[in-house]
Amino acid sequence: MAVKTFGIIGAGQMGNGIALVAAYPGGLNVILNDIADQFVEKGLDTIAKNLDRLVAKNKLTAEQKAEILGRIRKSTNLEDMKDADFVVEAAVEKEDLKLNIFRKLDEICPPGVILATNTSSIPITKIAGATRRPELVIGMHFMNPVPVMKLVEIIRGLATSQETYDTTEALSKQFGKIPVECNDFPGFISNRILMPMINEAVYALFEGVGTPKAIDDIMMLGMNHPMGPLALADLIGLDTCYAIMDVLHKGFGDSKYRPCPLLKKYVDAGYLGRKSGRGFYDYSK
Ligand code: CAA
Repeated sequence: MAVKTFGIIGAGQMGNGIALVAAYPGGLNVILNDIADQFVEKGLDTIAKNLDRLVAKNKLTAEQKAEILGRIRKSTNLEDMKDADFVVEAAVEKEDLKLNIFRKLDEICPPGVILATNTSSIPITKIAGATRRPELVIGMHFMNPVPVMKLVEIIRGLATSQETYDTTEALSKQFGKIPVECNDFPGFISNRILMPMINEAVYALFEGVGTPKAIDDIMMLGMNHPMGPLALADLIGLDTCYAIMDVLHKGFGDSKYRPCPLLKKYVDAGYLGRKSGRGFYDYSK
């Protein structure tokens, strides 16, 4: 099926980034959905600011910016996804919530429409099992910040068809990204490797091995990482990091994936990173 209209569930940091690349450079019409108007507006605000950067760098004109924004339709009703040719879900990292969204999307979307998920770690096969179209369900995992990061990790569920894979791969390229294929194991490849490193950095802090700045400086200066693991955790969101570690821990049943108690404590305290103004660093100013 030719994809002209691209639906996105969730207008948060991942969802609004995906909406932007689908609209530009992807060139598609976009339906950006969230549960309340304020979330959709906030997402559109971020998209407009990202387009402003391109206008300031003379990569786009003000008219092109207006045209791109004009192709993004706001939605707070999941039923609007009946008009989409391809849907990607980028809601919060909670299994029950995602299964529920997929059950509803399966009712709403016409037959043949691919239902992708941007989940960071929840099994694609399980999400597909909530629908009657498991061959059309796939993982389409973008990286944060979406407008900048080149990778889309594409994850095949047990029943994902080759046609679904090919369409998702082609769309990723259309969005200016580089797709890389992987199979459905806890954390896929990206988070199976990244998250234990972040978790270990939190353990180093927990055990007093170093300050957040020392831990991050060592990884940036010594390993050439663009940002340290604790700053990266703040960017991703500590609730998301915790949720992914929990999936790895339960999925593999191996104590090496045990989430650090300090990570749990921060999440319980509402220190979620940049989005809440406080994580391992203070963003309140
Ligand atoms: N949105 C859009 N553009 C952004 C941006 C954002 N949030 N942040 C930075 N940029 C752009 C800047 O405009 C700038 O563009 P130009 O080069 O065209 O001017 C470019 O990115 C570089 O930005 P900066 O110079 O401000 O800063 P930087 O060089 O330190 O780069 C960074 C910032 C790209 C975030 C870099 O620090 C980085 O790559 N960090 C690691 C990010 C990472 O690892 N992401 C993966 C997280 S894991 C994940 O997402 C998956 C998961 O499931 C958890």
